[in-house]
Amino acid sequence: TKFTSDRLLLFGATGDLSRRMLLPSLCALDAEGLLDPDIQIIGTARSEMDDQAFRNFARESLEQFLAPERRGGMATFLNRLFYQQLDANDPEGYKALAAKVGEPRQGLSIFLSTAPSLFEPTIRGLEQNGMAGPNVRIALEKPLGVDLESSKVINDAVASAFPEDRIFRIDHYLGKETVQNLIALRFANLMFEPLWNAAHIDHVQITVSETVGLESRVGYYDDSGALRDMVQNHMLQLLALVAMEPPVSYEATTVRDEKVKVLRSLRQIKAEETVTGQYRAGAINGEAVPGYDEELGKPSDTETFVAIKAHIDNWRWQGVPFYMRTGKRMPKRTTEVVVQFRDVPHSIFTGRGARTVPNRLVISLQPDENITLSLMAKMPGLDREGFGLRAIPLAISMPDAFAGPQRRIAYERLWLDLIEGDQTLFVRRDEVEAQWEWIDAIRATWEEHRIEPKTYTAGSWGPSAAIALAERDGVTWHE
Ligand code: BG6
Repeated sequence: TKFTSDRLLLFGATGDLSRRMLLPSLCALDAEGLLDPDIQIIGTARSEMDDQAFRNFARESLEQFLAPERRGGMATFLNRLFYQQLDANDPEGYKALAAKVGEPRQGLSIFLSTAPSLFEPTIRGLEQNGMAGPNVRIALEKPLGVDLESSKVINDAVASAFPEDRIFRIDHYLGKETVQNLIALRFANLMFEPLWNAAHIDHVQITVSETVGLESRVGYYDDSGALRDMVQNHMLQLLALVAMEPPVSYEATTVRDEKVKVLRSLRQIKAEETVTGQYRAGAINGEAVPGYDEELGKPSDTETFVAIKAHIDNWRWQGVPFYMRTGKRMPKRTTEVVVQFRDVPHSIFTGRGARTVPNRLVISLQPDENITLSLMAKMPGLDREGFGLRAIPLAISMPDAFAGPQRRIAYERLWLDLIEGDQTLFVRRDEVEAQWEWIDAIRATWEEHRIEPKTYTAGSWGPSAAIALAERDGVTWHE
């Protein structure tokens, strides 16, 4: 269904995500003339506020979170903002909200950035007050439940009012240019795809490390933990993009069909294929930071780190482990995918220094975006002992290759696709459910084997068992 939206309705408008990401991305889009010239953006939340107070709130958010050179259109943008107070649990409140939203010329896009416990009453309120018609799309921010069962409840509630082709489940990693570039790298180049399989790849590593700790998310994070917060969504989406078969086109159905096949091929994990950890006091970049317990204010057995050795049971990937790790309070913030190729089948070189090192493709997604392929080369010289070989990097820095606009906020792409109705970068119901199914089985294994997080010092790469997990197979984590 093709229509664009000239009304946006944002639930959770005064929340943290709204301040940091959602309002700044809308303002940036507006400044570039990418939104409907008559767009109206209605924010709603529990706090009492009028339009003016919301505009002030938005101005402060933009000044804090949008780069100065992108704030050009701020005055115009602020005038597009309106506010309606709402208690999402009060069915009466939605009438006033519907009146404030009014009749869109073309379409309405709704963004739920609230606690998932509010999704159900919100959907009902929207439906009963004429805000779920054929010209309405709805986006849902994570977490979509805490397990398969609760995610089904949410999915069913949304599906009772909206068909799947108007439901936009957010995984903000898909909005990152660098994540989309993985698709370009694989399918716009000839040279990787023929080698992209078990015959030529030894293993894959996916690392998402963060230096931040609990931040201000006490309630949410301690109930969630690293597995559900990062692996269930972002890391599995990265894995799916790295491992999927070539889709026949770059479209919502074809791309998501391929991703879900990968997610369904994930082998059930054994207890010894995971390691969990929780940070204790340490230092990051020379600065002392407290332990998780201290930040939280009580003891907890929530994992802030997880490492997993995953397998994809299909023809392409048989026997190729996918090592994944993610954690808070790691030495540096990085997201990277490492593809470790196999060694040459037979080396013709003998002598000192003639050992070949298998090629390695390192795709760094953030904070720096670059692609490095290690290649073997002859060391210059007249060595009597024969050939000296050395691995040298063939390196591309994306910012250097594409001088120009600064890094965008992932939500710019996602807002635009929601407004225009392109679901390619949104997660389909069957994907979310396949993700949860695999994650639930891991949690069940942990429970069955009474696996408790091991401690690691803040500023380290996690418990030593995580290093051993790879080392047992003769693999070292890329650093
Ligand atoms: C969120 C998680 O989904 O992703 C956070 O809830 C995490 O815990 C964040 O910090 C990481 O996102 P990014 O874009 O900073 O890599």
